[in-house]
Amino acid sequence: MSAVPTASVSPQSSSPRTEPRLTVAVVGLGGIGGGAAGSLGALGRHDVILCARRPITRFRLERPEGAVELPLSALTDPAQAKPVDWVLLCTKAHQTASAATWLARLCTPSTRVAVLQNGVNQVAGVAPLAGGATVLPVLVYYNGERLAPDHTWLRHAGNYDLAVADDADGRAFTQLFEGAPLRILLSDDFRTLAWRKLLLNAVANPLTALTLQRQAVLHRPDMLELGRAILDEAVAAGRADGARLAADESARTIAALLTYSGELGTSMYFDRLAGRKLEVEALTGAIVAAADRHGVPVPLNRALLTLLRAVNDAAEK
Ligand SMILES: NC(=O)c1ccc[n+]([C@@H]2O[C@H](COP(=O)([O-])OP(=O)(O)OC[C@H]3O[C@@H](n4cnc5c(N)ncnc54)[C@H](OP(=O)(O)O)[C@@H]3O)[C@@H](O)[C@H]2O)c1
Repeated sequence: MSAVPTASVSPQSSSPRTEPRLTVAVVGLGGIGGGAAGSLGALGRHDVILCARRPITRFRLERPEGAVELPLSALTDPAQAKPVDWVLLCTKAHQTASAATWLARLCTPSTRVAVLQNGVNQVAGVAPLAGGATVLPVLVYYNGERLAPDHTWLRHAGNYDLAVADDADGRAFTQLFEGAPLRILLSDDFRTLAWRKLLLNAVANPLTALTLQRQAVLHRPDMLELGRAILDEAVAAGRADGARLAADESARTIAALLTYSGELGTSMYFDRLAGRKLEVEALTGAIVAAADRHGVPVPLNRALLTLLRAVNDAAEK
Protein backbone atom coordinates (compact mmCIF):
# COMPACT_ATOMS: atom_id res chain seq x y z
CA MET A 1 0.00 0.00 0.00
CA SER A 2 1.40 3.45 -0.85
CA ALA A 3 2.38 5.73 2.01
CA VAL A 4 -0.23 8.40 2.61
CA PRO A 5 -0.25 11.29 5.05
CA THR A 6 -2.03 10.51 8.32
CA ALA A 7 -4.25 12.98 10.07
CA SER A 8 -5.42 12.53 13.65
CA VAL A 9 -8.99 13.73 13.77
CA SER A 10 -11.21 14.21 16.78
CA PRO A 11 -14.81 13.37 16.01
CA GLN A 12 -15.75 15.44 19.04
CA SER A 13 -14.19 18.67 17.68
CA SER A 14 -16.64 21.55 17.60
CA SER A 15 -17.98 22.36 14.17
CA PRO A 16 -18.46 25.82 12.66
CA ARG A 17 -21.59 24.56 10.90
CA THR A 18 -25.00 25.45 12.21
CA GLU A 19 -26.72 22.08 11.65
CA PRO A 20 -27.36 20.03 14.79
CA ARG A 21 -24.91 17.21 15.50
CA LEU A 22 -26.40 13.88 14.56
CA THR A 23 -25.79 10.57 16.24
CA VAL A 24 -24.82 7.86 13.76
CA ALA A 25 -24.38 4.22 14.74
CA VAL A 26 -22.40 2.02 12.36
CA VAL A 27 -23.30 -1.64 12.87
CA GLY A 28 -20.67 -3.99 11.41
CA LEU A 29 -17.12 -2.70 11.12
CA GLY A 30 -15.92 -4.66 8.10
CA GLY A 31 -14.73 -3.34 4.76
CA ILE A 32 -17.85 -1.27 4.10
CA GLY A 33 -18.71 -0.26 7.67
CA GLY A 34 -15.11 0.75 8.33
CA GLY A 35 -15.05 2.89 5.17
CA ALA A 36 -18.31 4.62 6.09
CA ALA A 37 -17.46 5.08 9.79
CA GLY A 38 -14.00 6.45 9.05
CA SER A 39 -15.34 8.81 6.38
CA LEU A 40 -18.04 10.16 8.71
CA GLY A 41 -15.76 10.29 11.75
CA ALA A 42 -13.17 12.31 9.86
CA LEU A 43 -15.78 15.00 9.15
CA GLY A 44 -16.04 15.70 12.90
CA ARG A 45 -19.63 16.85 12.41
CA HIS A 46 -21.44 13.84 13.86
CA ASP A 47 -21.21 11.62 16.91
CA VAL A 48 -20.20 8.30 15.39
CA ILE A 49 -20.88 5.21 17.48
CA LEU A 50 -19.35 1.92 16.35
CA CYS A 51 -21.27 -1.28 17.09
CA ALA A 52 -18.99 -4.29 16.72
CA ARG A 53 -18.37 -7.73 18.11
CA ARG A 54 -14.84 -6.95 19.28
CA PRO A 55 -13.65 -3.94 21.33
CA ILE A 56 -11.48 -1.28 19.68
CA THR A 57 -10.21 2.01 21.06
CA ARG A 58 -8.97 3.75 17.91
CA PHE A 59 -9.85 3.40 14.25
CA ARG A 60 -7.66 3.92 11.21
CA LEU A 61 -8.93 4.40 7.68
CA GLU A 62 -6.61 4.26 4.69
CA ARG A 63 -8.00 6.11 1.70
CA PRO A 64 -6.64 7.77 -1.43
CA GLU A 65 -7.16 11.22 0.14
CA GLY A 66 -4.89 10.32 3.07
CA ALA A 67 -5.15 8.07 6.09
CA VAL A 68 -7.06 9.17 9.19
CA GLU A 69 -6.65 7.99 12.79
CA LEU A 70 -9.79 8.49 14.84
CA PRO A 71 -10.31 8.08 18.58
CA LEU A 72 -13.43 6.03 17.97
CA SER A 73 -14.23 3.22 20.36
CA ALA A 74 -16.72 0.46 19.77
CA LEU A 75 -19.66 -0.70 21.82
CA THR A 76 -19.74 -4.48 21.94
CA ASP A 77 -22.93 -5.03 23.94
CA PRO A 78 -26.25 -3.92 22.45
CA ALA A 79 -27.47 -3.18 26.00
CA GLN A 80 -25.05 -0.18 25.98
CA ALA A 81 -26.70 1.34 22.89
CA LYS A 82 -29.22 4.20 22.91
CA PRO A 83 -31.55 5.51 20.20
CA VAL A 84 -29.77 7.39 17.39
CA ASP A 85 -30.65 9.59 14.41
CA TRP A 86 -29.02 7.25 11.87
CA VAL A 87 -27.98 3.62 11.74
CA LEU A 88 -25.67 2.46 8.95
CA LEU A 89 -26.20 -1.29 8.77
CA CYS A 90 -23.02 -2.70 7.25
CA THR A 91 -23.06 -6.39 8.09
CA LYS A 92 -23.29 -8.96 5.32
CA ALA A 93 -26.94 -9.51 4.37
CA HIS A 94 -27.13 -12.94 6.01
CA GLN A 95 -25.88 -11.39 9.27
CA THR A 96 -28.78 -8.92 9.50
CA ALA A 97 -30.77 -11.16 11.84
CA SER A 98 -27.81 -11.35 14.24
CA ALA A 99 -27.79 -7.52 14.35
CA ALA A 100 -31.44 -7.40 15.44
CA THR A 101 -30.52 -6.74 19.08
CA TRP A 102 -28.51 -3.67 17.99
CA LEU A 103 -31.37 -2.40 15.84
CA ALA A 104 -33.87 -2.89 18.68
CA ARG A 105 -31.80 -0.61 20.96
CA LEU A 106 -30.76 1.97 18.34
CA CYS A 107 -34.02 2.52 16.46
CA THR A 108 -37.11 4.59 17.13
CA PRO A 109 -39.69 5.69 14.55
CA SER A 110 -37.62 8.86 13.99
CA THR A 111 -34.42 6.93 13.18
CA ARG A 112 -33.26 6.34 9.61
CA VAL A 113 -31.56 3.02 8.87
CA ALA A 114 -29.34 3.04 5.79
CA VAL A 115 -28.63 -0.52 4.66
CA LEU A 116 -25.21 -0.71 2.97
CA GLN A 117 -25.59 -4.26 1.69
CA ASN A 118 -25.74 -5.96 -1.67
CA GLY A 119 -29.06 -7.19 -2.99
CA VAL A 120 -32.44 -5.85 -4.07
CA ASN A 121 -34.59 -6.63 -1.00
CA GLN A 122 -32.83 -4.73 1.77
CA VAL A 123 -35.93 -2.94 3.05
CA ALA A 124 -38.01 -6.12 3.36
CA GLY A 125 -35.24 -7.83 5.34
CA VAL A 126 -34.52 -4.98 7.75
CA ALA A 127 -37.80 -3.11 8.30
CA PRO A 128 -39.34 -5.77 10.60
CA LEU A 129 -36.30 -5.43 12.90
CA ALA A 130 -36.09 -1.64 12.88
CA GLY A 131 -38.77 -0.57 15.37
CA GLY A 132 -40.74 1.61 12.96
CA ALA A 133 -37.62 3.41 11.69
CA THR A 134 -37.36 4.47 8.04
CA VAL A 135 -35.20 1.99 6.12
CA LEU A 136 -33.36 3.05 2.98
CA PRO A 137 -31.24 0.83 0.75
CA VAL A 138 -27.81 2.07 -0.30
CA LEU A 139 -25.79 0.62 -3.18
CA VAL A 140 -22.08 0.41 -2.45
CA TYR A 141 -19.52 0.78 -5.23
CA TYR A 142 -16.37 1.51 -3.24
CA ASN A 143 -14.06 -1.29 -2.36
CA GLY A 144 -13.59 -1.80 1.36
CA GLU A 145 -11.08 -4.16 2.85
CA ARG A 146 -10.77 -4.85 6.54
CA LEU A 147 -7.07 -5.04 7.36
CA ALA A 148 -7.71 -5.53 11.10
CA PRO A 149 -10.75 -5.08 13.37
CA ASP A 150 -9.77 -1.39 13.80
CA HIS A 151 -8.23 -0.77 10.38
CA THR A 152 -9.90 -0.52 6.95
CA TRP A 153 -8.68 0.31 3.46
CA LEU A 154 -11.09 2.16 1.16
CA ARG A 155 -10.53 2.33 -2.60
CA HIS A 156 -12.76 4.17 -5.05
CA ALA A 157 -14.08 2.12 -7.97
CA GLY A 158 -16.19 3.32 -10.88
CA ASN A 159 -17.88 6.70 -11.11
CA TYR A 160 -19.64 6.63 -7.72
CA ASP A 161 -18.97 5.27 -4.25
CA LEU A 162 -22.59 5.02 -3.09
CA ALA A 163 -26.05 5.37 -4.62
CA VAL A 164 -29.42 6.13 -3.05
CA ALA A 165 -32.89 6.90 -4.35
CA ASP A 166 -33.51 10.55 -5.16
CA ASP A 167 -36.13 11.09 -2.45
CA ALA A 168 -36.20 12.87 0.92
CA ASP A 169 -34.38 10.03 2.72
CA GLY A 170 -31.78 9.66 -0.02
CA ARG A 171 -31.10 13.39 0.05
CA ALA A 172 -30.79 13.30 3.86
CA PHE A 173 -28.22 10.51 3.42
CA THR A 174 -26.16 12.65 1.03
CA GLN A 175 -26.29 15.53 3.54
CA LEU A 176 -25.00 13.22 6.26
CA PHE A 177 -21.86 12.60 4.20
CA GLU A 178 -21.55 16.14 2.82
CA GLY A 179 -17.88 17.09 2.70
CA ALA A 180 -16.62 13.48 2.78
CA PRO A 181 -14.65 12.32 -0.27
CA LEU A 182 -17.37 9.83 -1.23
CA ARG A 183 -19.27 10.38 -4.48
CA ILE A 184 -22.96 9.68 -3.87
CA LEU A 185 -25.37 9.22 -6.76
CA LEU A 186 -29.00 10.28 -6.26
CA SER A 187 -30.88 7.99 -8.62
CA ASP A 188 -34.35 8.51 -10.08
CA ASP A 189 -34.46 4.78 -10.97
CA PHE A 190 -32.93 3.05 -7.98
CA ARG A 191 -34.61 -0.30 -8.74
CA THR A 192 -32.85 -0.57 -12.11
CA LEU A 193 -29.54 0.45 -10.54
CA ALA A 194 -29.93 -2.17 -7.80
CA TRP A 195 -30.60 -4.88 -10.37
CA ARG A 196 -27.57 -3.76 -12.42
CA LYS A 197 -25.40 -4.15 -9.32
CA LEU A 198 -27.00 -7.54 -8.67
CA LEU A 199 -26.19 -8.65 -12.23
CA LEU A 200 -22.50 -7.86 -11.69
CA ASN A 201 -22.55 -10.03 -8.59
CA ALA A 202 -24.72 -12.77 -10.10
CA VAL A 203 -21.93 -14.26 -12.20
CA ALA A 204 -18.60 -13.41 -10.60
CA ASN A 205 -19.51 -14.33 -7.01
CA PRO A 206 -21.03 -17.79 -7.56
CA LEU A 207 -18.58 -18.91 -10.25
CA THR A 208 -15.45 -17.88 -8.33
CA ALA A 209 -16.80 -19.35 -5.08
CA LEU A 210 -17.87 -22.65 -6.63
CA THR A 211 -14.67 -23.13 -8.64
CA LEU A 212 -12.47 -21.67 -5.86
CA GLN A 213 -10.69 -19.62 -8.51
CA ARG A 214 -10.19 -15.87 -8.87
CA GLN A 215 -11.87 -13.86 -11.62
CA ALA A 216 -9.46 -15.16 -14.28
CA VAL A 217 -11.74 -18.20 -14.42
CA LEU A 218 -14.43 -15.98 -15.98
CA HIS A 219 -12.19 -15.42 -19.03
CA ARG A 220 -12.50 -19.06 -20.14
CA PRO A 221 -14.74 -19.19 -23.25
CA ASP A 222 -16.98 -21.85 -21.70
CA MET A 223 -17.36 -19.86 -18.48
CA LEU A 224 -18.19 -16.74 -20.51
CA GLU A 225 -20.91 -18.66 -22.27
CA LEU A 226 -22.23 -19.90 -18.93
CA GLY A 227 -22.04 -16.39 -17.50
CA ARG A 228 -24.05 -14.97 -20.39
CA ALA A 229 -26.75 -17.63 -19.95
CA ILE A 230 -26.93 -16.96 -16.18
CA LEU A 231 -27.28 -13.25 -16.93
CA ASP A 232 -29.95 -13.71 -19.61
CA GLU A 233 -32.10 -15.46 -16.99
CA ALA A 234 -31.36 -12.84 -14.33
CA VAL A 235 -32.14 -9.98 -16.72
CA ALA A 236 -35.52 -11.56 -17.49
CA ALA A 237 -36.23 -11.87 -13.75
CA GLY A 238 -35.11 -8.27 -13.16
CA ARG A 239 -37.30 -6.92 -15.93
CA ALA A 240 -40.30 -8.81 -14.55
CA ASP A 241 -39.43 -7.28 -11.16
CA GLY A 242 -39.63 -3.72 -12.51
CA ALA A 243 -36.02 -3.01 -13.51
CA ARG A 244 -35.65 -1.18 -16.83
CA LEU A 245 -32.73 -3.22 -18.11
CA ALA A 246 -31.34 -2.64 -21.59
CA ALA A 247 -31.69 -5.03 -24.52
CA ASP A 248 -27.93 -5.70 -24.38
CA GLU A 249 -27.71 -5.77 -20.56
CA SER A 250 -26.09 -9.24 -20.40
CA ALA A 251 -23.42 -8.31 -22.94
CA ARG A 252 -22.72 -5.03 -21.13
CA THR A 253 -22.40 -6.84 -17.81
CA ILE A 254 -19.99 -9.40 -19.27
CA ALA A 255 -17.96 -6.59 -20.86
CA ALA A 256 -17.76 -4.84 -17.46
CA LEU A 257 -16.69 -8.07 -15.74
CA LEU A 258 -13.93 -8.58 -18.29
CA THR A 259 -12.41 -5.21 -17.45
CA TYR A 260 -11.62 -6.47 -13.92
CA SER A 261 -8.21 -8.00 -13.34
CA GLY A 262 -8.23 -11.78 -13.31
CA GLU A 263 -6.21 -11.59 -10.09
CA LEU A 264 -9.17 -10.18 -8.18
CA GLY A 265 -11.30 -12.43 -6.04
CA THR A 266 -14.90 -11.79 -4.97
CA SER A 267 -16.39 -11.57 -1.49
CA MET A 268 -18.02 -14.98 -1.93
CA TYR A 269 -14.69 -16.46 -3.03
CA PHE A 270 -12.87 -15.03 0.01
CA ASP A 271 -15.67 -16.08 2.36
CA ARG A 272 -15.55 -19.64 1.01
CA LEU A 273 -11.76 -19.78 1.33
CA ALA A 274 -12.10 -18.66 4.96
CA GLY A 275 -14.85 -21.19 5.70
CA ARG A 276 -17.36 -18.38 6.34
CA LYS A 277 -21.02 -18.36 5.34
CA LEU A 278 -21.64 -16.95 1.85
CA GLU A 279 -24.04 -14.11 1.03
CA VAL A 280 -26.15 -16.47 -1.09
CA GLU A 281 -29.75 -15.46 -0.48
CA ALA A 282 -29.19 -11.73 -1.16
CA LEU A 283 -27.55 -12.49 -4.53
CA THR A 284 -28.49 -15.67 -6.44
CA GLY A 285 -31.32 -16.24 -3.96
CA ALA A 286 -32.82 -12.84 -4.81
CA ILE A 287 -32.76 -13.64 -8.54
CA VAL A 288 -34.52 -16.96 -8.04
CA ALA A 289 -37.04 -15.45 -5.60
CA ALA A 290 -37.91 -12.66 -8.07
CA ALA A 291 -38.17 -15.20 -10.89
CA ASP A 292 -40.53 -17.33 -8.80
CA ARG A 293 -42.68 -14.32 -7.93
CA HIS A 294 -43.10 -13.49 -11.59
CA GLY A 295 -43.12 -16.97 -13.15
CA VAL A 296 -39.82 -16.54 -15.02
CA PRO A 297 -37.83 -19.76 -15.65
CA VAL A 298 -34.26 -19.53 -14.26
CA PRO A 299 -32.90 -23.12 -14.24
CA LEU A 300 -29.22 -22.15 -14.23
CA ASN A 301 -29.60 -19.71 -11.35
CA ARG A 302 -31.67 -22.30 -9.48
CA ALA A 303 -28.89 -24.87 -9.95
CA LEU A 304 -26.32 -22.33 -8.70
CA LEU A 305 -28.53 -21.62 -5.69
CA THR A 306 -28.76 -25.31 -4.80
CA LEU A 307 -24.97 -25.69 -5.01
CA LEU A 308 -24.30 -22.50 -3.02
CA ARG A 309 -26.77 -23.48 -0.31
CA ALA A 310 -25.06 -26.87 -0.01
CA VAL A 311 -21.67 -25.13 0.31
CA ASN A 312 -23.16 -22.78 2.91
CA ASP A 313 -24.54 -25.60 5.01
CA ALA A 314 -21.01 -26.97 5.32
CA ALA A 315 -19.48 -23.57 6.26
CA GLU A 316 -18.53 -23.30 9.90
CA LYS A 317 -18.80 -19.58 10.71
N1 LIG B 1 -16.27 -5.05 0.74
C1 LIG B 1 -16.61 -4.51 -0.44
O1 LIG B 1 -15.74 -4.01 -1.16
C2 LIG B 1 -18.06 -4.45 -0.87
C3 LIG B 1 -18.37 -3.75 -2.03
C4 LIG B 1 -19.71 -3.59 -2.39
C5 LIG B 1 -20.70 -4.14 -1.60
N2 LIG B 1 -20.37 -4.85 -0.49
C6 LIG B 1 -21.48 -5.36 0.34
O2 LIG B 1 -21.48 -4.63 1.57
C7 LIG B 1 -21.97 -5.45 2.65
C8 LIG B 1 -20.92 -5.48 3.76
O3 LIG B 1 -19.79 -6.17 3.23
P1 LIG B 1 -18.35 -6.13 3.88
O4 LIG B 1 -17.40 -6.50 2.80
O5 LIG B 1 -18.11 -4.89 4.66
O6 LIG B 1 -18.47 -7.37 4.90
P2 LIG B 1 -17.43 -7.77 6.03
O7 LIG B 1 -16.09 -7.20 5.75
O8 LIG B 1 -17.59 -9.24 6.23
O9 LIG B 1 -17.98 -7.00 7.30
C9 LIG B 1 -19.14 -7.34 7.98
C10 LIG B 1 -18.93 -6.89 9.41
O10 LIG B 1 -20.14 -7.05 10.12
C11 LIG B 1 -19.80 -7.52 11.40
N3 LIG B 1 -20.95 -8.15 12.02
C12 LIG B 1 -21.63 -9.23 11.60
N4 LIG B 1 -22.64 -9.51 12.43
C13 LIG B 1 -22.58 -8.57 13.40
C14 LIG B 1 -23.34 -8.32 14.56
N5 LIG B 1 -24.37 -9.10 14.89
N6 LIG B 1 -22.99 -7.28 15.35
C15 LIG B 1 -21.95 -6.49 15.05
N7 LIG B 1 -21.19 -6.67 13.95
C16 LIG B 1 -21.50 -7.71 13.15
C17 LIG B 1 -18.66 -8.48 11.16
O11 LIG B 1 -18.01 -8.68 12.37
P3 LIG B 1 -16.94 -9.86 12.67
O12 LIG B 1 -15.64 -9.23 12.27
O13 LIG B 1 -17.07 -10.07 14.12
O14 LIG B 1 -17.33 -11.02 11.81
C18 LIG B 1 -17.86 -7.71 10.14
O15 LIG B 1 -16.98 -6.80 10.77
C19 LIG B 1 -22.24 -6.81 2.02
O16 LIG B 1 -23.59 -6.88 1.65
C20 LIG B 1 -21.36 -6.82 0.78
O17 LIG B 1 -21.84 -7.69 -0.25
C21 LIG B 1 -19.08 -5.01 -0.10
